[in-house]
Amino acid sequence: MALLEIRDLHVGVEDREIIRGLHLSVHAGEVHAIMGPNGSGKSTLSHVIAGKPGYEVTDGQILFKGEDLLQMEPDERAAKGVFLAFQYPVEIPGVTTMNFLRAALNAQRKARDQQEFSTPAFLKRVREVAGSLNIPQDMIKRGVNVGFSGGEKKRNEILQMALFEPGLCILDEIDSGLDIDALRIVASGINALRSPERAMIVITHYRRLLDHIVPDIVHVMSKGRVMKSGGKELALELEACGYAQFEDAA
Ligand SMILES: Nc1ncnc2c1ncn2[C@@H]1O[C@H](COP(=O)(O)OP(=O)(O)O)[C@@H](O)[C@H]1O
Ligand SMILES: [Mg+2]
Repeated sequence: MALLEIRDLHVGVEDREIIRGLHLSVHAGEVHAIMGPNGSGKSTLSHVIAGKPGYEVTDGQILFKGEDLLQMEPDERAAKGVFLAFQYPVEIPGVTTMNFLRAALNAQRKARDQQEFSTPAFLKRVREVAGSLNIPQDMIKRGVNVGFSGGEKKRNEILQMALFEPGLCILDEIDSGLDIDALRIVASGINALRSPERAMIVITHYRRLLDHIVPDIVHVMSKGRVMKSGGKELALELEACGYAQFEDAA
């Protein structure tokens, strides 16, 4: 059974259909890349999987571990192991990253009937992971994403992902705004989380990221549908030929 199974998904925003009959099947252990031009519906898809409000699912199904995700609240989906790293991480003034992480992590552990982390155990874990991502201690003490650079926000998303240990990680344009050194750090943080029990969906419109996070399967999305799927060589083909051929077909 696939970890994530999307069947004939249709999603509208303000009476406009954005996702138009999308199928996707992701198994545990796999890393899928979704590529496609701006406006093809990649972020919309990631938001609908995570349960962000404001989208109307008009048809189709999303199953996670065989359960109907669309019937669950966003926090329930997170507790089940769905994690989305946002293309545009939000700032939360007045809440330190440390307190945010602890509250979110313990809420998830509680929902999973796992014991909450003690403060010392939590601090130790955060320091370890932050260190591996080159995140300085003082950044964790600041308000969530407040005054963070683009690269720091993206590293903060990976810090959350590493702590929450999700079953499905969706990374939306995690490479945008990163210079090559930051990209290496973020990619190695993501690669360290690859595991046979976990699946990842990496959304990007540049091939560059896929030199660092090598996907098992690449999908090309255009105008709300998956137009073509293939191996990692499909990313190279796209770089050579561009998206135009798929846009015409869509
Ligand atoms: N909240 C919204 N309100 C209106 N239109 C939206 C909204 N979110 C997305 N769209 C539209 O849906 C289309 C797909 O957007 P998006 O999913 O962000 O694409 P991508 O991530 O592939 O660039 C775009 O045409 C965009 O303008
Ligand atoms: Mg997007």
